[in-house]
Amino acid sequence: MAKLNIFVVLLLLLQMSVAHAQQTQPTIEQLLQEPFLDDYYSNVVHGYEIITDSQKHASRYVGNALNCTNCHLQAGTQKDALPLNVAGMYPKWRAKNGKRNGIGLRIRECFLYSMDGIMPPEDAPEVLAIAAYISYLSQGQVMGVEPEGRGVPTLEDTGYDPNPANGRLVYMEQCASCHGEQGDGIGDVPPVWGLDSYNSGAGMNRIQEAAGFIWANMPLGNGRTLTQQQALDVSAYLNLHLRPADPGQSKFLKLVEDIFN
Ligand code: HEC
Ligand code: HEC
Repeated sequence: MAKLNIFVVLLLLLQMSVAHAQQTQPTIEQLLQEPFLDDYYSNVVHGYEIITDSQKHASRYVGNALNCTNCHLQAGTQKDALPLNVAGMYPKWRAKNGKRNGIGLRIRECFLYSMDGIMPPEDAPEVLAIAAYISYLSQGQVMGVEPEGRGVPTLEDTGYDPNPANGRLVYMEQCASCHGEQGDGIGDVPPVWGLDSYNSGAGMNRIQEAAGFIWANMPLGNGRTLTQQQALDVSAYLNLHLRPADPGQSKFLKLVEDIFN
């Protein structure tokens, strides 16, 4: 009997601590309803708005038709879909630019490549707001420890080269109904190639990266139904098409970067 009581008390304590953890950090829905927010939470909410509607809230730095949440699914809260609870992973050295990168630079680079836009300055309100939202999402993560489901799954080497001709068949059967036969998107479904898509310097333009994302998450709502080879093939097919050029290759940009960094 005493044992049972201890069990009940423990259960109650556990429930209380869960309730407490929920209280310490309000949900976005709760924050959106608050008439007054402190500086941190108003930035968190603004960051959330930018991630979910970059077209409206960060238009001056966006050059294509995408919103961050089109790739960072569910506003950056979905595992294996580039979740944004990664504040504890920064700063770190990154081969792409050969520098120690803070979260700010990482955010600014997604504007330049994934959003085919302009790199905002370090202290742009948009960058600060997104950084606040990322630290909000990272609450409870351990510094330096990779969060579960970070990035996209790494696909195993299938032993076959990605085949864009097979990829075309996959695309026409499984993707075109939403993303359009011309890859230019339909309604709220974003484009996957063409001038309104990510540019060729973007992470999504690497076949492995795109294949991991597509395999885990596409067709939307039916992730993990393609074979890994089909995901590789369809990524190779996406990459056959025209998209904006990699601005990292532009001499003008290098000049601008030298001035700002
Ligand atoms: C076309 C898809 C796409 C869009 C749109 C996009 N990103 Fe990303 N993002 C990626 C990919 C792919 C990676 C990881 C690969 C890499 O590092 O290049 C990434 C990585 C990141 C990271 C680092 C994540 C980590 O695990 O360390 C941050 C932060 C980020 N993006 C922020 C943003 C923000 C902010 C926006 C909107 C302004 C945005 N991204 C729009 C595809 C996208
Ligand atoms: C049911 C409709 C649907 C189908 C089918 C579908 N997608 Fe998507 N896809 C979406 C939507 C919607 C998004 C944006 C998700 C969001 O904003 O929450 C998206 C996002 C993407 C993205 C990242 C954003 C971008 O546009 O660059 C890629 C890449 C992508 N899909 C590729 C594919 C591929 C390849 C297939 C076929 C294997 C496919 N999708 C099938 C609806 C679909």
